[in-house]
Amino acid sequence: MTYWIAPSILSADFSRLGEEIRAVLDAGADLIHFDVMDNHYVPNLTIGPLVLESLRRSGIDAAMDVHLMVKPVDRLIGDFLSAGADIISIHPESTEHLHRSLSLIREGGAKAGLVFNPATPVDQLTEVMDLVDLVLIMSVNPGFGGQAFIPSSLNKVANARELIDASDRDIRLEIDGGIKAGNIADAARAGADTFVAGSAIFSAFSGDPAADRKTAYGDVITAMRSELAGV
Ligand code: DX5
Ligand code: ZN
Repeated sequence: MTYWIAPSILSADFSRLGEEIRAVLDAGADLIHFDVMDNHYVPNLTIGPLVLESLRRSGIDAAMDVHLMVKPVDRLIGDFLSAGADIISIHPESTEHLHRSLSLIREGGAKAGLVFNPATPVDQLTEVMDLVDLVLIMSVNPGFGGQAFIPSSLNKVANARELIDASDRDIRLEIDGGIKAGNIADAARAGADTFVAGSAIFSAFSGDPAADRKTAYGDVITAMRSELAGV
């Protein structure tokens, strides 16, 4: 099993976004989780395709895992495809026509992700399994970083793992919300292979001029990997 760690830039210092992303990549991140919020689907507002485009122009070529928490979603799928997203994940509640929205992502050349909120059943996955490259289980309600992990999401990860294994398809299983070194192994044992972590990673840098971002983030990522090695 190859585990991937995906730092969420929601908890990064936005005034130094490029520097933060380079530091976390140098520290061993596998991909960058890019949270997009619209103050409509979720009660918060973050960043859009122009920011991704600008990061690409600055030379950042790491895999970008774009998590869309916006409604309606279809037009922004196109904008994020043009901006350089590698994975685009959407919530079923954010579109009237899930099959069409997932197809748009694939047709645009990106990998398609389907996200399940804590109260959304995973059953719908079976209807669109052939259109999905990644399943994302939310272990908090979407909208904010730094929230407490919801323990029942481990059952949902296990259910999603069963559906994915039964399909025999190459689908990643990601978990997002409240992940840290202390619970990442539980998530892996439930069946997750891709781990989003925002506050756990970015809060490790104190801001002290003597401290080094890469070292601070690297310490957390190393602690997470050593937990995963014990699974
Ligand atoms: C929440 C976002 C998460 C968030 C996770 O809506 O989707 O990606 O950044 O943050 P932590 O790891 O702090 O829970
Ligand atoms: Zn997210």
